[in-house]
Amino acid sequence: MIVATTRAELAAARGGLPGTVAVVMTMGALHEGHAALLAAARTGADHVLATIFVNPLQFGPDEDFDRYPRSLDGDLAGCRAAGVDAVFAPTRDEMYPGGEPLVRVDPGPLGGILEGASRPGFFHGVLTVVLKLLHLTRPDRAYFGEKDYQQLTLVRRMVADLDVPTEIIGIPTVRDPDGLARSSRNQYLSTVERAQALALSRAVHAGSLAAAEAELAAAEAAQAGVKVDYAVLTTADLAPVPEGYHGPARLLVAAWVGTTRLIDNAPLTL
Ligand code: PAF
Repeated sequence: MIVATTRAELAAARGGLPGTVAVVMTMGALHEGHAALLAAARTGADHVLATIFVNPLQFGPDEDFDRYPRSLDGDLAGCRAAGVDAVFAPTRDEMYPGGEPLVRVDPGPLGGILEGASRPGFFHGVLTVVLKLLHLTRPDRAYFGEKDYQQLTLVRRMVADLDVPTEIIGIPTVRDPDGLARSSRNQYLSTVERAQALALSRAVHAGSLAAAEAELAAAEAAQAGVKVDYAVLTTADLAPVPEGYHGPARLLVAAWVGTTRLIDNAPLTL
């Protein structure tokens, strides 16, 4: 497995990958959710490229950029075990050689709701780094987790709207046996908080928005430290659900558990 830290090394590695190439973009701290993306990429293309970069652009000033878990050696071992051909793990200066970019991808109205409402600038940062990484890695396919459903939806939309020649593939959320969605941020949770966090997965599987809201309200009332941000029912495209709508929908929730902000979502059919 090639480990490239510079653009030149990445270009050389990419040039040596004939046939189809799939990319899995990560911020490291790899877990079973990433393993599922890498496994799907492995079967979906001749070669797999993974990127590991904690993107400062997508963290607000009061967010967890400094304490975000970093575990490069373990991540590289995980990539090797998953059959990854090349990893691009650039420094901040390599990724943003001119400093923070003045020009960023505008996510449009879909970027201002849900996560975008709670985390201003988040999707500008995500889409900007995703587009840069798509340009640098030139993949046929890119794999993203449904765990970050709004991110997946926006990446699909960006690729369609800006004519990026990459197929975007969504992979279902990987959960612990008790239902908790796998997330690098689960590392922040104490044992008590982890138990409280199960309210999110119970809510997204509650079967209706009213039942999800009741589940979260009960957790908020019973557990000091749980604070609900939103519980929303949308169409599969994250549009408001029209009156009398029948078809695929999505239940999305976000809540604070202690100092950790968690999100979850699940599909349902109306
Ligand atoms: O989902 C993530 O880990 C990040 O948002 C991504 C897509 C790697 C961009 O930094």
